[in-house]
Amino acid sequence: MNLLILNGPNLNLLGTREPETYGHATLADLETNLRAAFANVTFDFFQNNHEGALIERLHQAHHHAIDGIVFNPGGFTHTSVALRDAIAAIDPPVVEVHLSNVQAREDFRRHSLLAPVCVGQISGLGPASYHLAVRYFVDGHESWVSLRNP
Ligand code: DQA
Repeated sequence: MNLLILNGPNLNLLGTREPETYGHATLADLETNLRAAFANVTFDFFQNNHEGALIERLHQAHHHAIDGIVFNPGGFTHTSVALRDAIAAIDPPVVEVHLSNVQAREDFRRHSLLAPVCVGQISGLGPASYHLAVRYFVDGHESWVSLRNP
């Protein structure tokens, strides 16, 4: 199984960025722990602060037949029509993840432009948000799709 773990703006600062909200683990810690927890998964990790670079990476995942994408779009969650269009345009299923509980924060964070075109959203569980999204793909995204569309 090939999964893309995609992280948007400011997530390169994890570890030092508002640790009371995002915790003390760095992005490298998070990636190391995912690799250790899912030895049978081939991970492709990509973080970028630019919307266009994230869009290009989503297109690439489509062309390389990636099985699934775990995406923390950071602040673009709440603003980006272009990222939403990219997710809608590609075949690989996307799970939107957040470290913090976006529903428990400022009003503007409660709305995701991307969630409606994702398979689902996991928010508020810290690094476990990513682990549970990977677990979803490992356990069989296909079985959920077939349950919904028998
Ligand atoms: C975030 C939540 C977003 O609202 C915020 O802009 C981020 C991080 C999270 O993981 O909790 O950059 O996506």
